[in-house]
Formats: sequence, structure tokens, C-alpha cells
Amino acid sequence: MTTTMIDRTDQPTEPGDRLPVVVVGAGAMGGEWIRMLAVSPHAALVGVVDLDLDLAATVVASVGQGGVIVGDSVAEVAERAGAEAVVNVTVPQAHRVVNEQALRAGLPVLCEKPLGPTVAEALRQVALAELTGGLLMVSQSRRYFNHLAAFRGAVSALGPLAAVHAQFFHADHEPGFREQMAHPLLVDMSVHHFDMLRYLTGDEPVAVRCSSWNPPWSWFAGDAAATAEFELASGARFVYSGSRCTPGLQTSWNADWHVYAERGAAAWDGDSDVRVDSEGIGFDVPDRREGIEGSLEEFVTSLRAGTTPQNEVRANVLSLAMVEGAIRSSDRQGERVVVAELLEESLAQAIADEQQGDVAGLLRSWASAADGLATPAWGSTPVTTASGGAI
Ligand SMILES: NC(=O)c1ccc[n+]([C@@H]2O[C@H](COP(=O)([O-])OP(=O)(O)OC[C@H]3O[C@@H](n4cnc5c(N)ncnc54)[C@H](O)[C@@H]3O)[C@@H](O)[C@H]2O)c1
Repeated sequence: MTTTMIDRTDQPTEPGDRLPVVVVGAGAMGGEWIRMLAVSPHAALVGVVDLDLDLAATVVASVGQGGVIVGDSVAEVAERAGAEAVVNVTVPQAHRVVNEQALRAGLPVLCEKPLGPTVAEALRQVALAELTGGLLMVSQSRRYFNHLAAFRGAVSALGPLAAVHAQFFHADHEPGFREQMAHPLLVDMSVHHFDMLRYLTGDEPVAVRCSSWNPPWSWFAGDAAATAEFELASGARFVYSGSRCTPGLQTSWNADWHVYAERGAAAWDGDSDVRVDSEGIGFDVPDRREGIEGSLEEFVTSLRAGTTPQNEVRANVLSLAMVEGAIRSSDRQGERVVVAELLEESLAQAIADEQQGDVAGLLRSWASAADGLATPAWGSTPVTTASGGAI
């Protein structure tokens, strides 16, 4: 079967067409973004912001880019540098504050996952985006893998789903905020896999039961392992298990996937091995930019065309709700957590937490969280389903 593709647009008409952007957060991942932007055909680095000015200057120097403005204020650096957008690569706890600074300065934002530590923080950002009219897109970079698109094509031909299984087993040492988090697997890593589930199936989470724990040898302070079972809107089940401290039989960072459906089954090892066990179903592997390059390309093309990107802030909230639902269930000894109830409780929390009168007022005006998420997304021509269909 054929998979929908977007054309690679590696060569914009003029060098001046590259979108001038400021990167906020010059840590490990910020460095990846800065190195990628140095050679991107879509965007050009004009400024870097970090609380640690020496770090920002060192990273800028390492890519040999002249004329990049460095500072610790988003609005000030953006103005001096003539930026037209912000890429937010700070730690999750700082995402909302930085996104607010940028959107209030009239700058659209491409924000690293997770959108925030909680669904309440995510809902405050939906209201903020609505209020400012700016584009806020979450960079869920693991959606942009060509073999995932191929796997998705195969899965869509298998008919109604019975079950999707994903396993993620790794042993990663990344000192910093991850090793101090209460839930380093679910918040920092599984958010990718949960978001991929929504992209892969077009299905949405209804409820979850989860158990998380920290193996005795773990070098993480919080729970580095979890198992979870999600009920999906179609009635199918998503069964997930993972660990960040298991040094054997490592899976791909993208996890290892099996899908069982009415017309057969399909599997993807998370890298380049897609298998289909069904008569007459094939797949094409597209040739698109992958990872953060793919995410940046979608951000820039959406901004310019006025189309709605897959992970516009409203659409991303359910990926985060899967994470928080799993954590709540684990905290309550595996109790079934209903996603719709979690969203409404999160709206009440968002209203209680919000300090800005205009954002709080907008949150209070929503009849429900579902009502807030149904407000029109940025962009006049949506090119995806709410769950992030193919572009
Ligand atoms: N897509 C992926 O595959 C992927 C991979 C790794 C990390 N990430 C995400 O990237 C983000 C950053 O991760 P990291 O590993 O680079 O973290 P890091 O701790 O190495 O770097 C974060 C940087 O942000 C800066 N910072 C924090 N608060 C700030 C603020 N208010 N204003 C300006 N700068 C601020 C810190 O000084 C630090 O330099 C996280 O959200 C993480 O989940 C994504």
C-alpha cells in the first residue's frame, strides 16, 4: 500500500528565507538543536538564551556561528536578534514560563516534550495560546521516523485493532534532572511512546491502570520502570512495559511494537525492521526528515502555510494525560484512572494555580476541559486528525 508523504523541501528559494529563531536552553538537547539549526534549510539560529550565560556562549562558539546573540532574557534576545520564533529546550519545569514569555512577545514556539510536568500546566498553556493567538507546537520528535510511518501504513490496513504492545528496555546514564525526577521513565521517556501510540493508531486513551517501581540497583532516584494497560476509545488495549535501568536485550529508543488486529498482525523493532503477518498487505517507507529535523520542518511549513501541525498544543494534551493517568494509577496501587475525569480535575487545578488574570479568566470560561481542548486550533487548514494523522 502507499503511504502519504510530504516532499522534502531541502532547498528554500533564498538563504534569507530561513526562519530566524532563538533557542532557549543550551544544555544537552539544546546543543543538538543548535548544531542541527546550523545546517538547517528551514531555520537559522540568531540567538541563544540560558540562565547559564557561559554555557550558552560556549555552545554557540562550538558551532562556529558568527552574529548569534546570547543572553538570559527571551524577549530581549529575540528583539535584538530579529527572531521570528522560539525553540524551547529548557527543562520541563521551565517550559510553561518560557512559552509564556515568548507567546506574550508575539513569538510562536516549538517546545520540547513534555509540554509541562502536569496536565494542569498543559491546560494553562492551551489557554495562553488561545489568548495570544500564537502557534504553540510540541516537538514530539519520535513521530518523525520513516519506518514508523511505514508501520502506520501497514497497521491502518489491518482493520479494527485488538491490542497494541510496546516494550522499552534500556540502561541510560544521563546525569541531570532525569535522575532526580519522581517518574523518569513515564514523564521523560514514555511520553514519546504514548504519543507514538496515538500517531500509530489514531486511537485515543480512555482509562489506564499502571504500576511503576524502582529496581533495587537503579541509579535513578524515582521510578525507572513501569507496566501500564490503557483502554482505547475503539475498545482496543495498549499494553506497555518499560525500564531505563535494564542492561540487557536493549530495545530501540523508539520501543519494540506489536499490533494484533482483525486481519492479521504487524511488528516494528523501532528501527528499520517492519513485519506484516497478513495476506496482501505491504507498506512503503517514505523519505522524510526524521527526529527533530522533521519536527522543525513541520513547524516552519505550518507557520508559513497557516496549517495546523500535528502536535499543536491542544492535540498534545492527551499524550501528557496518558503519562499523568499512569502516574496517578500507580500512586493509587493500580486503580483505574479515567482520562476524562483526570482532565476535569486538571482544569480545576489549572484555575487554582494560574496567577495571570487573563489566562485564569479564560480557563474559568470553559464549560469543561474538553470544551477548552475543542477551541479552534492555531491554523486555518488542519492537515491532521486530532490524534495526529499523516501530513
Ligand atoms: N526529543 C528528544 O528525543 C529529547 C531528548 C533529550 C531531551 N529532550 C528534552 O529536551 C529538554 C531539555 O533536556 P536536556 O537534556 O537538554 O536538559 P539539560 O538540563 O541538559 O539542559 C536544560 C538547559 O535549560 C536551561 N534552563 C532551565 N531553565 C531555564 C529558563 N527558565 N530559561 C532559560 N534556560 C533555562 C538550563 O540552564 C540548562 O542549560 C527536556 O524537555 C527534555 O525532555 C528531548
